[in-house]
Amino acid sequence: MVVILPCQSNEELNALVMEAKKQTKHGKVADYIPALMKANRDDLSVAIYHQDGNCYSAGDIEQKITLQSISKVLTLALALMDCGEDGVFQKVGYEPTGDPFNSIIKLETNRSAKPLNPMINAGALAVTHLIKGESVEERLQRILEFIRDLAGHSEISYSKEVATSEFETAYLNRSLSYYMKQDGIIDEDVEQLLDLYTKQCAIEMDCLDLSKIGLVFAMDGIDPVREKRIIPAEVARLCKTFMVTCGMYNASGEFAVRVGIPAKSGVSGGIMGSIRNRFGIGIFGPSLDQQGNSIGGVKLLKMMSEKYNLSIF
Ligand code: DON
Repeated sequence: MVVILPCQSNEELNALVMEAKKQTKHGKVADYIPALMKANRDDLSVAIYHQDGNCYSAGDIEQKITLQSISKVLTLALALMDCGEDGVFQKVGYEPTGDPFNSIIKLETNRSAKPLNPMINAGALAVTHLIKGESVEERLQRILEFIRDLAGHSEISYSKEVATSEFETAYLNRSLSYYMKQDGIIDEDVEQLLDLYTKQCAIEMDCLDLSKIGLVFAMDGIDPVREKRIIPAEVARLCKTFMVTCGMYNASGEFAVRVGIPAKSGVSGGIMGSIRNRFGIGIFGPSLDQQGNSIGGVKLLKMMSEKYNLSIF
């Protein structure tokens, strides 16, 4: 079999980005968080971080994006490290929903209101509830320190504008939280939880940082550049499994069939991907498809998967 070494030049990536960009006109930028409407629909950029420390990129990779739902994988890892598997899975399940990421329906039809998985909004709120610390500020700092360590970048912080914009309009996430509070899944003040959650979702970085975090998951929790273990291997394995089964929401099944890369998306248009023992991927393309995934980003990953034989299946 011929082994094609993937993504070893910027020109190669650029050609793929140019092709995938044709999709951006078929999607739209998220508008339910007002601050995200400022994004340029036609942007598409990608960074690849190889385990030997080499990086390749295409597009405007200095642009900062907020993590949004990509943060759910990271808080899941931290909560697992804080509370262990039993502690986390008392509050949240293992199963995909087939519903949109912010759906409330299963909280009512499944008794109790235990969210089905940690990647939907309800599940992520339950996971954020588990992050240890005496105050929102201390918990936020713990999340930030963890993410800075993963990215190997001490400057990472959150966008106050995006956090405030979401906090002021997060009626649905408040509703999900009250359902869960009713059933004892969470027991903290809902406004306090929303304060922490919206700041977590507004943590911002560029595609290169995102690809570096994808690499740490790809290396089963080790940063190969600093030769430092950041996440226990078992926690990295669990997170990547959820990326496969629920990372692209109710498009996760089709994405697994057509792309087959553990990946997590966010409504800002980011996607983080992990190719085991090889490289991490960070994508930014704010034009979204109907499920809330970056339309150009999904196309780009599909082309990369086909060209370089990246599917894990
Ligand atoms: O809670 C929300 O709705 C957002 N902060 C994050 C949702 C999200 O990114 C879904 N992704 N595709």
